[in-house]
Amino acid sequence: MSDNASNNTADSQPKRILTGITTTGIPHLGNYVGAIRPAIQSIKNSEDEAFFFLADYHGIIKCFDPKQIHESTKAIAATWLACGLDPERVTFYRQSDVPEIPELAWILNCSCAKGLMNRAHAYKAAVDANMSKTDVDPDQGITMGLFGYPVLMAADILMFNATHVPVGRDQIQHIEMARDIAGTFNHKYKDLFTLPSAMVDDDMPLLTGLDGRKMSKSYGNTIPLFGDLNPQVDAEKQLHKAVMRIVTNSQLPEEPKNPDDSTIFEIYKAFASVDEIAELRTRYESGIGWGEAKQVLFDKINSEIAPFRERYNHLMDNPKELEEILKMGADKARRHSRKQLDKTRRAIGIKPLAKLK
Ligand code: TRP
Repeated sequence: MSDNASNNTADSQPKRILTGITTTGIPHLGNYVGAIRPAIQSIKNSEDEAFFFLADYHGIIKCFDPKQIHESTKAIAATWLACGLDPERVTFYRQSDVPEIPELAWILNCSCAKGLMNRAHAYKAAVDANMSKTDVDPDQGITMGLFGYPVLMAADILMFNATHVPVGRDQIQHIEMARDIAGTFNHKYKDLFTLPSAMVDDDMPLLTGLDGRKMSKSYGNTIPLFGDLNPQVDAEKQLHKAVMRIVTNSQLPEEPKNPDDSTIFEIYKAFASVDEIAELRTRYESGIGWGEAKQVLFDKINSEIAPFRERYNHLMDNPKELEEILKMGADKARRHSRKQLDKTRRAIGIKPLAKLK
């Protein structure tokens, strides 16, 4: 892990870790290996305070399908809990259950420079895509939600004075913007907000998908963690089917194969022990067939995931339980957010005119 922490960050204070998960997809193996498993592990092995939340107000920026937002929220909550997130230990909530967050976002909007947002990668990429076409307005299809996305994200983080924010590399700029936004507010009004640092895991390889490109929902090449949402099809069978679809080259069984050029081997490395990896490497060199290699990979993934499946299915079938857990998380979160919003409002001059009995 590397922190790109600098001067003003509260490194000597106890860590307060916070991260959000956008509710637009169904968790896949890449999410599990890259975010879910390491986050749950690191919390188990530390005393750090942790806030994990479902970023549904971020979800609606890029997804306009209400059903998808709703199903994704449910599946992501069930996945994290099934994979071992302890909601007593971690404050686990849904962003939209904490109305202080969008209120803070508005306040921050009012001191955040528009020019800062102009520089956001996601916005710039959308403008560039428009500019490459003829006769298209540079801002076509770009909503205020997309433009102001980093301000809402800053509100998520600054609301809880998070010190460390585990994110993927693509999100580093947003954390830097949150620092910038915090610094501006602190300078203009009052020193209320901790400057957060991004935590990026340098060793975590991005998983390759079924077709050989990076595993991503947008390429449709993912291996779902607990199967899709169709309960008719057994999740273990779905996993097996997906693994069998991984693209390989046309080398015949018996031919020696290069493990370092193989998606199967790469995914295996994310699940197996050092000894197991070395053993599979030897089998590649002595010509394991692709079908057999896929079976070895399936067995390995399945041995790790299978124990979580029952809890996942239980939660998916009992959404009331999920709702209760999320409500408990929101209660915990709001104990912080109410105070922080109150302080912020007072700092900008929005407060009662007199005390009423
Ligand atoms: N934008 C993040 C992503 O797409 C999700 C997110 C929303 C987030 N709010 C956050 C991450 C606050 C960390 C902190 O991955």
